[in-house]
Formats: sequence, structure tokens, C-alpha cells
Amino acid sequence: MMSRFTFTLCLFAAFDAVKAGEAPKIRLNDGNMIPILALGTYGSDEDRAKMRQTVNDAVEVGYRHIDTAALYNNEVEIGQGIADVIGKGLVRREDLFITTKLWNDKHACEQVVPALNESLSRLGLDYVDLYLIHTPGSQKADGSFDYIDYLETWLGMQEAKKLGLARSIGVSNFNSQQIKRIIDNCEIVPAVNEIEVHPALTQERLIAFCQNMGITVMAYSPFGFLVSREVDDAPPPRIDDPTLVAIGQKYGKTTSQVVLRYLIDRGTIPIPKSTNKRRLQQNIDMFDFKLTPEEIVTINKFNQNRRIFDTSYWKDHPHYPFNID
Ligand SMILES: NC(=O)c1ccc[n+]([C@@H]2O[C@H](COP(=O)([O-])OP(=O)(O)OC[C@H]3O[C@@H](n4cnc5c(N)ncnc54)[C@H](OP(=O)(O)O)[C@@H]3O)[C@@H](O)[C@H]2O)c1
Repeated sequence: MMSRFTFTLCLFAAFDAVKAGEAPKIRLNDGNMIPILALGTYGSDEDRAKMRQTVNDAVEVGYRHIDTAALYNNEVEIGQGIADVIGKGLVRREDLFITTKLWNDKHACEQVVPALNESLSRLGLDYVDLYLIHTPGSQKADGSFDYIDYLETWLGMQEAKKLGLARSIGVSNFNSQQIKRIIDNCEIVPAVNEIEVHPALTQERLIAFCQNMGITVMAYSPFGFLVSREVDDAPPPRIDDPTLVAIGQKYGKTTSQVVLRYLIDRGTIPIPKSTNKRRLQQNIDMFDFKLTPEEIVTINKFNQNRRIFDTSYWKDHPHYPFNID
């Protein structure tokens, strides 16, 4: 029979990976562990100027996963924040999970590792935990369309993983057919697909496809139109939506926390962005409740397949991903 001492040890072992206030972790298909909440960092020049402090604030309140990209032009500031929190002894490098992304003008196979090395140099790191192809569509440096097959790009991503520069590799904004082409033709299955998911864009088919293939979904723009967006016809739910308010009241949570928990309970990793310490704290404070399956169905009913980002510029690109799930 298990003694009380052994039982206590087992309990400690079970919770070892997660300290109070941090997000739990799950295992990716390549064996690596990933925290199930990430800090979003895409924003204005004003946001970028705050990013070093934001990384400090976020790590202080428990974030261990940071999502950036070469495109966001903030890897330097994020790297400074990472150096600060490691220097202060708040965390070690291995406690952090850093995701960055390859931009569209570096899709040739031989460009991938040099582009990652440039990101690493800006971040001040010698590896990232996750490197993603930002979109399947390649572009020339001047912004015009290029036609490099993302299968070629994936060969460069595999090289980055083999060199140990990226512990895990994945994609972003890929549809199911594009992912299937990678699986059918390449050696390594993507670990992650980072896509837009929120109550107005529930992505049920694409999420089911990814999860059936063992691919973890990271959910960007998780608040959807809940928060202020510069559109005249923003669809519901908004931040004061009565259905979300009622669910929040049941658990003593805000509507933004309900939406983040909805994404967690659907098995995705939300990436809320904030540069405000109070909201950073609020956005990580949702690991003490869980929605019922009925509440998830209720929130799914908000779906209107509405994207935050206008993708019309891309619609004639041969690798445009948003015409199918
Ligand atoms: N892979 C891709 O192609 C892709 C595309 C888009 C985004 N992303 C990633 O996903 C992240 C998140 O997406 P996003 O920035 O578009 O949208 P988001 O995280 O859904 O929303 C951000 C907005 O919500 C506000 N906010 C944050 N917490 C709040 C709270 N608790 N209550 C009320 N408002 C709150 C923020 O303002 P404050 O900062 O003032 O709090 C900001 O205006 C990005 O930062 C980026 O890392 C990836």
C-alpha cells in the first residue's frame, strides 16, 4: 500500500512542472512540453516601445511562453526583457518557451536557417523553442507575390530543428490541405498550427483536423471582436455580451477570462496580447475554473467565420490558405 510519504511525493511529482500562477504544459507531437497560454506581442510602435517592460511584467505574473515574429520588429525588445528576467533570477532560460516566425520573404530553403539565426541574434538566444512558417504564401522583399512552394520552406525548417536552433517547428495560417501536403511529403510533422480562433471564428473543422493529426493549435487574436477593433460592423460577442457576462458571473470571472478559458477547454493555446500589467494578470488568472461542454456549445454558436484581419490582398496567391478550412 502507498504510504502517506510516497503519496505526497507523487503529488509533488505530478505538479512539478507547474508552479502556482503559471500555465500548465502539454506535450507536443515531438515530445517537447509547451505552456498552454502564450503572451501575444504584435502591436503598434507604442506597444513595441513597452515590450521590454511587458516581458518583465508578464514573467513576474507567471507567463512562460512568448509569441513573437520577425515581422513584429520587436525581437530586440523581447530579447532585452528575457535577459532582464533571467538576470534578476526570476527564471532560467529553460523555464521559458519562446516562439518566433519566419517571414514570407525568406521562404527559399537555404534562407530559413540564416533567417532564424538573425531572429536568434535579435533575441539574444541560441535556440528558440518553436519556429513557425508565418504564412504559406511567399513574397518578394518588395512585397509582391513570390511562388516558392512551402514544401521547400519546410525542408529548411527541418534543417533548423536538426541543427538544434529550433526545438520544435510548425506552421501558421495553414489550411488542412496544406498541412496534409507537408505530412505526405516531408519527414517531420508540424508540431503546431497557429491560426485565428475566437467566438466569431470558431474554426471547428480545422481544429479537429489538426488535433486528429496530433498537431497542437495556437489560437491568435483570441478575443476576436470582444475588444475594440477598428471595424464598423464588429460582430458579437462584445465585452459586455449578456451570454458571456452570465457565464462569467457563475464562475466569478470577466468575459475576457471566459473567452480565454473557452479556447483552453477546446484544447487550443490562446495568445492574448496586452501591455497592461493588470490585464496581463487577469488573462493568466483562468486556471481555476472550467467551462461545461454545454457552455462551449453556447459560445460556438457565436461563429460567423469572421476574421479580424482583411486577407483580400492575398486572395489571388496560389497558396492563399483561407478559401478552405
Ligand atoms: N500567426 C499570425 O499570423 C498572428 C496574427 C495575429 C496575431 N498573432 C499573435 O496573437 C497575438 C494576439 O492577437 P491580437 O494582438 O491580434 O489580439 P488579442 O490578443 O485578441 O487582443 C489584443 C487587444 O485586447 C486588449 N486586451 C488584452 N487583454 C484584455 C482584457 N483582459 N480586457 C480587455 N481588453 C484586453 C489589448 O489591449 P492592451 O494591450 O491595452 O491590454 C489589445 O487591444 C498577437 O499579439 C500575436 O502574438 C499571430
